[in-house]
Amino acid sequence: MNDDSKYIEIHGVEQAFKTPKGRFVALRDVNLNVAKGEFITLIGHSGCGKSTLLNLIAGLTVPTQGSLLCANKEITGPGPERAVVFQNHSLLPWLTCFENVYLAVERVFAATENKAQLRARTDAALALVGLTPAAQRRPGEISGGMKQRVGIARALSMEPKVLLMDEPFGALDALTRAKLQDELLAIVQKTHSTVVMVTHDVDEAVLLSDRIVMLTNGPAATIGDVLPVNIPRPRNRVELAEDPAYVHARKAVIDFLYTRQAHVEKAAA
Ligand SMILES: Nc1ncnc2c1ncn2[C@@H]1O[C@H](COP(=O)(O)OP(=O)(O)OP(=O)(O)O)[C@@H](O)[C@H]1O
Ligand SMILES: [Mg+2]
Repeated sequence: MNDDSKYIEIHGVEQAFKTPKGRFVALRDVNLNVAKGEFITLIGHSGCGKSTLLNLIAGLTVPTQGSLLCANKEITGPGPERAVVFQNHSLLPWLTCFENVYLAVERVFAATENKAQLRARTDAALALVGLTPAAQRRPGEISGGMKQRVGIARALSMEPKVLLMDEPFGALDALTRAKLQDELLAIVQKTHSTVVMVTHDVDEAVLLSDRIVMLTNGPAATIGDVLPVNIPRPRNRVELAEDPAYVHARKAVIDFLYTRQAHVEKAAA
């Protein structure tokens, strides 16, 4: 049975951590289905549990309650069909940018492709994020934004079915950020990847998403609201600025974050 509307399924998920002060419930009662090819963003205040939820989908952690499925299979660990771009770029410092990406390419395609093909994939991924000139440099020799782009190249090079991104553009200047957002839109349009991306940025969420999943404040955060973004693709950032659907979606997210969730914060304080 293939149900494309439920490519990723999250059922009744709770994530609690053992801490010196006792059990800390970060997430509770999280339920969400992500369709195949859908672009989802997770938005919420700092510390609400966005990375925690992404790590669960990545299979890096297991929930304390509930279950997660990808393509009808329970997620029990990381897999090449679910590539992750971490919030803090996680490159191997002793390898060049090229080698960092090549390692991922090798893991996924070495069984079926020769070395020249693997190198070509690596070159293409680095070119996609504008890093060809830095290919032979090591992470210590490039800027934070460039490191983040290596992380993105590495994830894209695996041609994953699901792309999981934790604030991938957070450390970038506004111009680079806009360029990479546009490139990501083009890539996803082409590859039909399913994307779950964490962001703090309301404009980024509206520009990229099919649906915006808004998390309540922690502790015991959960999904407060899900906003469908009914704006046709391809989307053009310049034209969108005055599009009523864009303005409406943007306002709905801002209302959620700064009115509805701000009250919870005050009440808790
Ligand atoms: N391993 C852990 N042990 C204990 N507490 C944890 C652990 N990981 C996360 N937490 C707590 O869970 C909550 C959610 O953390 P998480 O990193 O998911 O937040 P976030 O929404 O990604 O925040 P940010 O936007 O700042 O990245 C926080 O209160 C955090 O302190
Ligand atoms: Mg985080």
